[in-house]
Amino acid sequence: MPPEESFRVTPYEVRGRIDYERLRELFGTQSLTPELLERLGQLAHAPLPPLLTRGIYYSHRDLGAILDAHARGEPFFLYSGRGPSGPLHTSHLMHFELCRWFQKHLGAEMYIQITDDEKSWARGLPREETTRWGYENLLDILAVGFDRARTHVIFDTRSIGAIYPLAVDVARRINFSNVKAVFGFKPSTSIGLIFYTALQSVPCFYPSWIAHRPVLCLIPCGIDQDPHFRLTRDIAEGLGFPKPSLVHSQMAPGLQGDRAMSTTGGPEENALYLSDPPPVVERKIRNAFTGGRATIEEQRRLGANPDICSIWALWRTKFAPDDREFAQITQDCRSGALLCGDCKANLLPRVQGFLKDHAREREKVRSWAESTILESPPGPRTSGTGTPG
Ligand code: TRP
Repeated sequence: MPPEESFRVTPYEVRGRIDYERLRELFGTQSLTPELLERLGQLAHAPLPPLLTRGIYYSHRDLGAILDAHARGEPFFLYSGRGPSGPLHTSHLMHFELCRWFQKHLGAEMYIQITDDEKSWARGLPREETTRWGYENLLDILAVGFDRARTHVIFDTRSIGAIYPLAVDVARRINFSNVKAVFGFKPSTSIGLIFYTALQSVPCFYPSWIAHRPVLCLIPCGIDQDPHFRLTRDIAEGLGFPKPSLVHSQMAPGLQGDRAMSTTGGPEENALYLSDPPPVVERKIRNAFTGGRATIEEQRRLGANPDICSIWALWRTKFAPDDREFAQITQDCRSGALLCGDCKANLLPRVQGFLKDHAREREKVRSWAESTILESPPGPRTSGTGTPG
């Protein structure tokens, strides 16, 4: 990225105030247009989810190819993932919620990658810890509610034997100068991370590889993940696989008005964890950054600014699924009819209700989770102890 930009976005660093349109231009991705969305709605025979209609997902690569394939009756599959380093925030579920919508309405297989190696390399966390979080995060992700017959999990340290031959083929085509430029690696970067992008590419090709025929892939993800898949797309054809398509979201803003709901190097108060107990949720929402005015009188007179408000962002992405209600909240915020304290009080029971339902669903998927994980095949024993002769 040119040095004159006042922000920087890579999978390993999000810095500055992001101008999302500019970022889309810099990354060279397409705008998610109303025409494309309308076509998607027609093919799905269902209303589009707020994640798509409210500009949260705003960019794509080759979504049209997926829609064309679906219209021709060809299957495609969904792929998204999580690099475990700690508990999940409410905003982490967004990509999986969009996948669930696609799976339900367009009937696609779902591949989830849990990269329990990635943050060990990227942040120096103990591998036991990232693996443990991987299992915890997987329960939260599966609790979103996927079709049990069509959901597969690639859990890096568990599934490596099944994916390694493909990872070797992928890695052979990516050289150090590619990744150095794309990810901004330094001499002190772990060598694991230099190989890692090959592992994140593998699920894009895995279904085609095992089926011996091209199966298109659609990846809902944060736009920060695009650099990985730019590399994937560059090498796809050389390997005889279709390029994956993507839909990109903006980053969910944090509760403290930071650029992303992240607690990496930041305060605990910035994110709502799925496991936060009710009093903690209440405190975090009460203290959350809003677009309100300094005094009630001023707010009544001038209205508030939802565009910078972390509470409004929660309504927008998740907690006001009804468009009429969402429009009303936005209007009342701007006009000054709705004060921040009341708005927070209205939101709180929605969040508590969601977390309670989520915790229940999470328990229900516990016994199923193990069987979703792609196991490394035992493979032929060609050497080592116990081999006869
Ligand atoms: N790198 C992602 C993270 O840091 C994890 C991930 C793996 C992922 N495969 C993915 C994210 C595919 C989106 C799509 O969390």
